[in-house]
Parts: sequence; structure tokens; C-alpha cells
Amino acid sequence: MSRTVLMLPGDGIGPEIVAEAWKVLNKVNEMFSLGLDFESGLVGGAALDAEDTPLPDDTLDRAKKADAILLGAVGGPKWDSLPMARRPEKGLLGLRSNLELFANLRPAILYPQLAEASSLKPEVVSGLDILIVRELTGGIYFGQPRGVRQLESGDRQGYNTYAYTEAEIRRIGRVAFETAQQRGKKLCSVDKANVLEVTVLWREIMEDLKREYPDVELSHMYVDNAAMQLVRAPKQFDVIVTGNMFGDILSDEAAMLTGSIGMLPSASLNSEKQGMYEPCHGSAPDIAGQGIANPLATILSAAMMLRYSLNEEEAAQAIETAVSKVLDQGLRTADIMTEGGRRVSTTEMGDAVRAAL
Ligand code: IPM
Ligand code: MG
Repeated sequence: MSRTVLMLPGDGIGPEIVAEAWKVLNKVNEMFSLGLDFESGLVGGAALDAEDTPLPDDTLDRAKKADAILLGAVGGPKWDSLPMARRPEKGLLGLRSNLELFANLRPAILYPQLAEASSLKPEVVSGLDILIVRELTGGIYFGQPRGVRQLESGDRQGYNTYAYTEAEIRRIGRVAFETAQQRGKKLCSVDKANVLEVTVLWREIMEDLKREYPDVELSHMYVDNAAMQLVRAPKQFDVIVTGNMFGDILSDEAAMLTGSIGMLPSASLNSEKQGMYEPCHGSAPDIAGQGIANPLATILSAAMMLRYSLNEEEAAQAIETAVSKVLDQGLRTADIMTEGGRRVSTTEMGDAVRAAL
């Protein structure tokens, strides 16, 4: 059985880190006879430059047909002044919405080897293992109407709409409860129900779902408090479920607890478990082309892809073990440098993971 993986390197450090993950995937493909075929395509700024659109039809068609997608990152200063509809980010958002990848799983796990790379005290973060379940195809990112309009007074007004339907809340809620069931059985739903009606409904639906998952302990937290609790006592969390924008913000915050956002993978799944996998960090244009980016988040995203979309748990674990091994060996890209570590480049890190397999 052959299966197709679409590689979308994108912009900035995207091509460098995807190349390393590809090396690692090629090796496990052989080792475990996975029968994976790889294709690559254009998205984001790279697609704008080549085809004048951030999401070419050909990329979208192939993404829909692929069994899984591995994406690097999109965006950069070169395209920052383009109108919203033509920005590289539209390529990413277009893939998410067209494939209905509504469930974004963002684990924040602290590797014990990197405890001192965290800006928080080791006792606050040691053993940290949180999963953020972020709704990815609704909320204020996609709500209509949106735009910038001219008021009668002549003043201009920018506006967006924060809306969720009951069905959208329910389907992400189910993913969150089911994931919590497989982990520590604690789910914290993050909202702003003291101010925003949309999240009053969110909270009501989460409460309603709780009856179907009696073994999961559900709590609720306002997003401002959640942002604070994440740096005060992050280990109180097991699974966090929240909407698109709060999830965007909290997942960056959670990532930093682990020392570097360069370590964190993510999965974006639809109801058929087809998925797009990407590192949580962005395209980092400031360090692109220098060979210093950390490829581990992308390599770990490839592991998540094997687990969730391709059902290859053994191969997924092999990659995760290899990553842990290279950290044990003291290999460090710049972002995760710790005392006594050996500084390596992007490609050296990829090669080391491949060798550790
Ligand atoms: C992320 C990114 C994206 C988002 C950007 C690049 C559109 O920040 O995946 O978290 O806001 O979702
Ligand atoms: Mg983000």
C-alpha cells in the first residue's frame, strides 16, 4: 500500500528544517517499510513569488489527495506589505479551512535534558507535559463580516467577528475530552465568558459534553488567568481546550516554558484524521539561510504525522527516541544551548537524529 506525504517547505527557515525532517522520514520509510511516497509543493511566499498566489490550486488539490502533509512555515518581511488576501499566511489558513483541519494539537513537553534552557525555574517546569487543543478553522480568524470600513464620520474602522456555532464547539470539545481520556483525564477549557457571549456558549457546550465523559475532570478558566497560571504553575494543566485566537497565543506561551519554541511540533486534523503537521514556530526570517535553525520541532511533527495520520506508532516512537538520544549526546542548536552542550547546525542536528535511528 503506497501512501503519499506532501511536503510544503514554505518560507524563511521552512526549507531548511523540512529538508532535515525529510532525511529522517526517508530513513524510517526504509527501516519500517512504510511505503511512503513524498511529493513537494509550494505554499506561502514561495508560492506568491512563483505563481502569484499564496495557495496555488495545484497545491490545494494535492493536499486534499495526500494522506498527510508536512509544512515548514510561511511568511516574511518581503510579503508583509501585501493586502491581507495575498499574504503568505493566507496559504496556511486556506489549507486549514479547505481541508477542515479543525483540531490543532500542540503538545508542550519539557525534555529533562533541556530544563535549564527554560526561562522558568527548573522546579516549576520539570516533568511538564501539557497538550493544547486549539480550534483551528473558526472563531475570529474566519468570522464574517470582517474588514476595514469607512464610517459616516469619515473615520475608518477595522473589524472582525468572533463567532462559533454550537456544532463547531462540540466537535473540538469531543476531540479534547477524548484526548484527555487517553492522558491525565483533566481538561481545562479556556474562555472569556465574563465578557464574550460566544464563549458563554462555548462554556455551556463544554459543560454539556462533560456528561458523556464522566471520567474526565472538567474545569474552566478565563484566558487572562490561564496566561498567568501557565507561567505561575504550569504543571496544574493536563489538556487545555480553547478557541483559535486564544490557542494561538497560549500555545506560544506554553512553548516557551519548555525552553524553546524550536522544539514543539503540532498536528492539525480533520474528522477523517487526515492531517497537516507543522512546527509551532514561524518562518523566523531573521535567522533564515544561516543554517542555525532548530529542525527538531519539524522532525517531531513528522513523528506526530506517523502516529496520527499514518498509523505507524513504532516509527513515530523511533523518531522520538532518536531525538531524545541526540539531546542526551549534548547536541544543541543555538536556541536550546545549555551549559556543556555542543553547538550544532541545522543539518548536523538532522544528520544526528538520522544516525540515532
Ligand atoms: C500558528 C501561526 C499562524 C496562526 C500564522 C502564521 C497564521 O501563528 O500556527 O500559530 O496564527 O495560526
Ligand atoms: Mg501562532
